[in-house]
Amino acid sequence: MVVWQALDQGSTRRRTTVTQWICTANHGFATYAMEELRRLFNDVKFNQLAPNEIFRMEVPLEREEAMAMLQQKEPIFLRHIQPVERILPIEGNADDLQALSDLVRNSRLRCENRMTAVHLRRADNSPFLYTAGDTKAILDAVLSEVDCEPVVQSPELILSIYAGAQELYVGWGTPEEQLSDWPGGAVRFQREDGQISRAKFKLLEAERAFKLDFASFGEALDIGAAPGGWTQLLLERGLYVTSVDPAELHPSLKQYPRLTYWKKNASDVKFKAEAFDLLVCDMSWSPMQMSKLVLEGIGALANGATAIITVKLMHKKPLQTIRDVIAKLESAFVLVKAKQLFHNRDEITLYLVKR
Ligand SMILES: C[S@@+](CC[C@H](N)C(=O)[O-])C[C@H]1O[C@@H](n2cnc3c(N)ncnc32)[C@H](O)[C@@H]1O
Repeated sequence: MVVWQALDQGSTRRRTTVTQWICTANHGFATYAMEELRRLFNDVKFNQLAPNEIFRMEVPLEREEAMAMLQQKEPIFLRHIQPVERILPIEGNADDLQALSDLVRNSRLRCENRMTAVHLRRADNSPFLYTAGDTKAILDAVLSEVDCEPVVQSPELILSIYAGAQELYVGWGTPEEQLSDWPGGAVRFQREDGQISRAKFKLLEAERAFKLDFASFGEALDIGAAPGGWTQLLLERGLYVTSVDPAELHPSLKQYPRLTYWKKNASDVKFKAEAFDLLVCDMSWSPMQMSKLVLEGIGALANGATAIITVKLMHKKPLQTIRDVIAKLESAFVLVKAKQLFHNRDEITLYLVKR
C-alpha cells in the first residue's frame, strides 16, 4: 500500500522530514503565494512548474503539521495545494496508466467506501499521453475494483495527479486539505441564458468558497452594481436588493419588484440606519477610496451584517495593499477570510462581518 512517503534526508543522529507539494495560484500571482508561504514555513523551497502559476514546494515538516499550519493561516493567493506522495517517471506510453492503476489498486485502505474523485492536470509540455477524461475513466474502474466509490461531484477524497515535464506527482487529500474540490482550484460554472455579466461568477464562487447561503439574507446593498451580475444573483436568491451605480443596470433586471436602483455615485446616497444585512461591493476602484466609502456608509448595515468586497490590486505591492485595506476596514468589521478566487482577475475578495 502506498502510504505517505516523506523524503528522508537523514543523518544517523537526526532525520529531517521533507514533504513535497504542488501549489497553484491564479496566473501571474504565484510569486505572492510563495511570499505568503515563505512567511508561514521556515526553510521552504520552491521550484516553478508553470510560469507564475504552478510550483513545487518542499517544506521541512510532516504532512499533518504543514496542513494544520495552512488551515490555520490560509494564504490568500494559494488557490490549490496537493501533497506529493509518489513521483512516477513518465514513459510517454500506456505504462503510465498502468503505473497509476497499480498505485490506486494498492490504495484500498486509503479510499475504501469513500467517495473519491480523480483530478488530473497536465503541464503544456508533459509527455503524458492521456487526457483528464481518459485517465479518470481508467482509474474510476480501478477505484470500483477496490471498493472505492468514484464520483465527480462532492468527493470526500481526491486523488490529484499533476503531469509535469518528466514526472507524475501523485497525492491524496480531502477537498478541505486541497483548498478546493475542483482540479487545481479552477472552479467552472455554466454560463446561463440571460446572464448579465461574467462578474456573476465571482459572487457565485464567493458564496461557495466562504460557505455562505445568500438566500438566508433579507436586504442587500450592492455598491458598484452595473451592469448587474451580482444584483441578478441576489435577486434570484430571493433578496430585496438596493443597487447603486452611476452606470446603467441591465434592462432585464427591471422585471424584479424587489429591486431598488439608485443611478448615482455611492457617496451621494444615504440610507436608513441598519437597513441591510448584506453588503456586496465590486467597484473596481482604488482600494483605499473604496474602503473610505464603505466605512462612511457603515451605519446602513445592521450589526453582524455580512460584507463581500472585492479589492482591486492596482499597485506593485498587493500584499501591502491588502494589509492596509484590511487594517482600515477592521475598524468596523471582523475579517473572516481574504482570498483570491479563481474568478478574480487583478483583485481579491474579502468576507467580513460588521462588528
Ligand atoms: C466591475 S463593475 C461591477 C460589476 C458588477 N458587480 C456586476 O456583477 O455586473 C464596477 C462598477 O463600479 C461602479 N462604480 C465605480 N465607482 C463607483 C462609485 N463611487 N459609486 C457607485 N458605483 C461605482 C462602476 O460604474 C462600474 O459599473
